[in-house]
Amino acid sequence: MQQGLKSQQAFDWRIDSWQDKPARQQASYPDQHQLLDVLQQLADLPPLVTSWEINTLRNEMAMAQRGERFVLQGGDCSENFQECNSSVITNRLKVLLQMSLILTHGLQMPVTRIGRFAGQYAKPRSSDVETRDGVTLPSYRGDIVNATDFDEQSRTPDPRRLLRAHARSAMTLNFVRGLVDGGFTSLHHPEYWNLSWVEHSPLAERFQQLTREIGQSIRFMEIVSGIQTGKLRRADFYTAHEALHLHYEQALTRQVPRVEGWHNLSTHFPWIGMRTAELDGAHVEFFRGVRNPMGIKIGPGMDKDWLMGLLEALNPGREDGRVTLIHRMGVKHIADYLPQLISHVQASGQPVTWICDPMHGNTESTAEGIKTRRFENIQSELEQAFDIHAACGSILGGVHLELTGENVTECTGGARALKDVDLKKAYKTTVDPRLNYEQALELSMLIVHKRQSLQT
Ligand code: PEP
Ligand code: CO
Repeated sequence: MQQGLKSQQAFDWRIDSWQDKPARQQASYPDQHQLLDVLQQLADLPPLVTSWEINTLRNEMAMAQRGERFVLQGGDCSENFQECNSSVITNRLKVLLQMSLILTHGLQMPVTRIGRFAGQYAKPRSSDVETRDGVTLPSYRGDIVNATDFDEQSRTPDPRRLLRAHARSAMTLNFVRGLVDGGFTSLHHPEYWNLSWVEHSPLAERFQQLTREIGQSIRFMEIVSGIQTGKLRRADFYTAHEALHLHYEQALTRQVPRVEGWHNLSTHFPWIGMRTAELDGAHVEFFRGVRNPMGIKIGPGMDKDWLMGLLEALNPGREDGRVTLIHRMGVKHIADYLPQLISHVQASGQPVTWICDPMHGNTESTAEGIKTRRFENIQSELEQAFDIHAACGSILGGVHLELTGENVTECTGGARALKDVDLKKAYKTTVDPRLNYEQALELSMLIVHKRQSLQT
């Protein structure tokens, strides 16, 4: 750890040294004075998470790296201000809890839950502008920057949104912490976090059987140990978001008394996407000076030199749990690209936690132009990921999914065999298609099944 810090200091990093580098995917604010004023206000506001939580998560990521834990990272592609409400938040927690229970039980190891929430408000876009009927306006970059409506006022980046994003993240996190502390996640009260759909689902019998088995195991443990598990274990959640908007990230990155280094206190687990991961770019510059455990998304365009450069820049001290590589290759490419990347990492001796995102490489459009993902492709990429890591002697430490606790119809397939024509029934996302709760639970069961088949 010490070694890591020293090497970082030797690189002459400053909290704003990223501003000397090219920064991709940033909003262009018409009023710079207003932006600076807002950033000052943000920098004076309390942080959202603490360095203790961040350091605990880094230890958990190190365990996942060694195969002692499994990471479940999931949530919306993008949160929006409107859906910062109690039912969306509780349903999201419920589905993550249920999935983690299936995984803990089936994999026989603790699960680290990381939500794409309380700050997932910035989105990378393939183009800076969007043109409709001859009118060109800035692209929608997430609620932290502008609004989706296609008119000039909505699409003009507004710095005040940074404060609203911070406030909504705080409200979300406050509610999550309250629910967790209040016993909502207690294993003794599955009725709190059961989703009502379970009774009507094709998977109902399997899920209820599992809940019964878990209940029996808990009671058994309490009898033999004489300790009430409810007092021992409380399901914790960590937060994550794509750390895209560097002014926002900078304003929430702080030095904490008696703790060395800088921590990004806007989230526990920031990640950078491949679109902003150039070696000489602003995002890598910023994050090499920040102590959080962090993710890097990698797709088919990632090559050896780039990857080695990233690991050297972001983890010069080779700290366990610091870097997580989230691979998102797509069902057609994973077999061609992933094995080489794994062997380059192995040869380098760099410690890395591997997570599979089977969503982002599998986005397609239906004949009618609706953005969707097929469950069978998501499943297949994930299963291939387990096989490839096993064949390479590497460890797949977790999954990264886009999902919701709502009953949406955005991805096709799954136990209810949703078809393209069903997508319109409840298609809500403004960005990427998400697994609905049923598809998400089904995928957890399939993960367990796959892991068990590899062990026998
Ligand atoms: C995302 O996670 O929502 C995302 C945009 O992913 P990627 O950068 O991997 O495409
Ligand atoms: Co997405």
